[in-house]
Amino acid sequence: MPATADQVLDALRPVQDPELHRSIVDLRMVRSIEVHDGGSASILVALTIAGCPLRAEIQRRVSDAVTVLDGIDRVDLDFTVMTDDERAELRQRLHGDPAATAGSGQAQGHAEGRAIPFSRPGSRTRPLLVASGKGGVGKSSVTTNLAVALAAQGHSVGIVDADIYGHSIPRMLGTDREPTVIDQMLVPPEAWGVRCISIGYFVPKGQAVIWRGPMLHKALEQFLTDVYWDDPEFLLIDMPPGTGDIAISLSQYLPRGEVFVVTTPQPAAQEVARLSAAMAEKVNLEVRGVIENMSWFTGDDGTRYELFGAGGGQALAEDLGVPLLGQLPLVPALRAGGDTGRPITAVDPGCEASQMFARIAERIAVELKPKRVYHPELQIV
Ligand SMILES: Nc1ncnc2c1ncn2[C@@H]1O[C@H](COP(=O)(O)OP(=O)(O)OP(=O)(O)O)[C@@H](O)[C@H]1O
Ligand SMILES: [Mg+2]
Repeated sequence: MPATADQVLDALRPVQDPELHRSIVDLRMVRSIEVHDGGSASILVALTIAGCPLRAEIQRRVSDAVTVLDGIDRVDLDFTVMTDDERAELRQRLHGDPAATAGSGQAQGHAEGRAIPFSRPGSRTRPLLVASGKGGVGKSSVTTNLAVALAAQGHSVGIVDADIYGHSIPRMLGTDREPTVIDQMLVPPEAWGVRCISIGYFVPKGQAVIWRGPMLHKALEQFLTDVYWDDPEFLLIDMPPGTGDIAISLSQYLPRGEVFVVTTPQPAAQEVARLSAAMAEKVNLEVRGVIENMSWFTGDDGTRYELFGAGGGQALAEDLGVPLLGQLPLVPALRAGGDTGRPITAVDPGCEASQMFARIAERIAVELKPKRVYHPELQIV
């Protein structure tokens, strides 16, 4: 007795759409199921968009789920594409209606059209802003590897590349696809368990972004509102160098943002890094920790060379009254991993730098976990 169509449907319930991470049955992608004598089943699946890049992955997942059933050893899978109305309905169910929250008038954390989900009081997402007053100290490398380390520890993680002019996260993370657009909702590409959005997906390669302030704000706002982040535990923000406009926008959009300052060990860098802390204070964001990068280089003979001096991270941490969360060595493989989209934390988790990223991730997730706010009026006496 071969399995029935109902049993096939049940077998498909745990199958998730690889981008939306929801059951394809709940997403109403499974359109028809027929079981035939002779051990085959015909299934029609509606893709969200034509030319869905993950079609082959969906095919594999569906076949794997169904061919384990008794009496079915072949699946004939056909694809169709959702209509505009179906996409609009799907977006509405997953992401809400922008019109519903428009103009409700809250100033803080509220963009023009839609509320920024991470500024709602009940949001579980911790926005982590990776900053430094100085360029080239490793903000983007730290953001990428920290995100990968958090994901490897089982957390759901996204990255917003807020460096509009000098975007580098797509290359460092190795996301080779563009975001999928479902009725104006952007589904961020994912690599190593980390989702990411960047202006890099929207400008042709090699072309410079030459926007003025208002356009930067608009882009950032869209990164926070029009992207289907799906309530991640951590949203890392790779900040541009300096202490400008973007920090001000972000502080309005993400009033619960936690700032992590990256510095190299020499006093000059530490002084500039202090500027970004001063900036954070001005816009009411809390600095939660310091990360020292390029702390030493270990030679073939095992000797540690402190190429950029020593002590800057510790001094800055003491100055700001926050912990020094870790010191990252200078390793060529870290740079190479950033250039090729194979972050060192993902491809060589056992090396010294990766272990330090894992340790920093753990400290942020556990040690720096915000304390729950208890309301005295709710106390039972
Ligand atoms: N610990 C490290 N070991 C080796 N190379 C590193 C390390 N940290 C960063 N780098 C390299 O240094 C360069 C600058 O790093 P990165 O782009 O992360 O800095 P940034 O602070 O984001 O720069 P920008 O201010 O331009 O945004 C990159 O080529 C990166 O691969
Ligand atoms: Mg950078």
